[in-house]
Amino acid sequence: MDRIVIRGGYRLGGSVRVSAAKNAVLPILAATLLTADECRIRDIPEIQDVLTMNRLIELLGTEIRRDEDEWIFRTPEVRTSEASYDLVRMMRASILVMGPLLARTGQAVAGLPGGCAIGVRPIDLHLKGFAALGAEISLAHGRVQASVRGRLRGAHIYLDYPSVTATENILMAAVLADGTTTIENAAEEPEVVDLANFLNSMGARVSGAGTRLVRVEGVRELHGTAYTPIPDRIEAGTFLVAAAVTGGWVALENVVPDHLAAVIAKLREAGVAVETEGDRVLAEGPARPLATNVKTLPYPGFPTDMQAPFMSLLTIAQGTSVITETVFENRFRHVEELKRMGARIDIEGPSAIVHGVERLTGAPVTASDLRAGAALVVAGLVAEGETEIAGVHHIDRGYKDLVERLRTLGANIERVSGVPSLQYEE
Ligand code: UD1
Repeated sequence: MDRIVIRGGYRLGGSVRVSAAKNAVLPILAATLLTADECRIRDIPEIQDVLTMNRLIELLGTEIRRDEDEWIFRTPEVRTSEASYDLVRMMRASILVMGPLLARTGQAVAGLPGGCAIGVRPIDLHLKGFAALGAEISLAHGRVQASVRGRLRGAHIYLDYPSVTATENILMAAVLADGTTTIENAAEEPEVVDLANFLNSMGARVSGAGTRLVRVEGVRELHGTAYTPIPDRIEAGTFLVAAAVTGGWVALENVVPDHLAAVIAKLREAGVAVETEGDRVLAEGPARPLATNVKTLPYPGFPTDMQAPFMSLLTIAQGTSVITETVFENRFRHVEELKRMGARIDIEGPSAIVHGVERLTGAPVTASDLRAGAALVVAGLVAEGETEIAGVHHIDRGYKDLVERLRTLGANIERVSGVPSLQYEE
C-alpha cells in the first residue's frame, strides 16, 4: 500500500491552479445519462472518485471518449438501470445516478451506498423526493429500487435538511417530469448551482438554484451540451491552509473567491493575510496562527469538508479553539491521529476543543477518510521530523497530484509505494 512521507518544517511558496470541483463534476457526469446526445465536459480532474463515476456510468451504457482537455459522454441507450453495488460501495456519490435513471427509464436500482466513514448517512431524503415525484420505492436485500409507470409528475417537496446530493438527485429526476417541481429548503451549495447551470445548458428549466427554493419546469427531453465545471473550493481551501500552516504563501489561480467566503473569514481570524482579485486568491500565513472558533454548517456556512484540514492549522495556534461539527456525526476521526503528532484536542459531544501547542512532531498516521487524509498532510507539513501517512487511497479519491503540487510549492514530500512502515524480524 502506498504511503505519503513528509519531512515537515519547510515554508511553502508559489502558485497553484485549482482543479474543477469533484462535487460539481460527479453530479454532472451522472446528469449526462439524461440525454442520448453528446455532452462535452472540460477540465475534468483525474481523481479516483471521477474514475469510479466513469466506470459506473459506462456500465449503465455511457460511451466515454477523450479529446485533449475534453471528455465526451454519450448514452445512446441505458443498458441497465441498476448501479453496481461494488461501485456504490466504493463511493457514496454513486447514488447520484438514481435521479437520472429514474427520469430517463422509469426505473433505478442501487446498492445502499458506502463512501467516507463519517457517521450515519442515510438516503431517506433522496427517496422521499422520488416518492413525491410519483415513484414507488422498495428496499430489499441491501438494494433500493425506485420505479414509475410513465413519466414522473412535478410536485412540491420539502427537505427536512438541505442535503446536497438529495437536492441534486431530486433536481435531476424533476427536469424530465411532467409539470412543475419546487424543492423547498434545498441545499444552496455552489455545486448545486453548477449542476442547475449544466442542466439548463441541456435545455432544462431550473430556476432559483443557490437559494432555498428551487423551481423546475419539466421538459420532454434534454439535448447535448459543452460545459466547464466550477473550480474546487475545498481543494483551494486545503492549499490555503497548507501554505498558512507553514508560515508560507500561496497564490491560487482559477478560484471563485465568493465560494470561499467563510473559509477566508476564518483564515483571517486565524491571522492569515488573504487577498482576492478576480479569480485569484493570495494568502500568507503568520509566524504562528491565532486560535479561533469554527462551526460547520450548510453553505454559505463553513464547509464540513474543510473542518479537518482547518483543525490541523489550529493545532499549533496561540490559544484554544472550539471546532463544532453540525453537518455530520462522527467526523472527528482525524483527531486521534493528530494527537499522535502531539496535538492537544478534547472531544466534547459535537465539538473538538483544540488547545494550541507550539509544535507538532512527525509520526506514522493513518487517513480514515478523504478530508482526514488532507488534515494529516497539512499537519505533516509543519510537524518536526518525518510523518508517514497510510490510507493514501482515501486522499486519491479527491485530490489530483497533491504530492507533486505540494512539492512544487517547496514541501519535502514524497509518495512511496509498497513500503511497510514496520520491519519484522524472525
Ligand atoms: C455532500 C458532499 C460532501 C459534503 C456534504 C456536506 C458530494 C458528492 N458530497 O455529501 O463532500 O461533505 O455534501 O457538505 O457532493 N442526510 C439525511 N438524509 C439524507 C441525506 C442526508 O439525513 O437522505 C444527512 C446526512 O446524514 C448528513 C447531512 O444530511 O448529516 C448532510 O449530508 P448531505 O448534504 O446529504 O451530504 P452529501 O450530499 O452526502
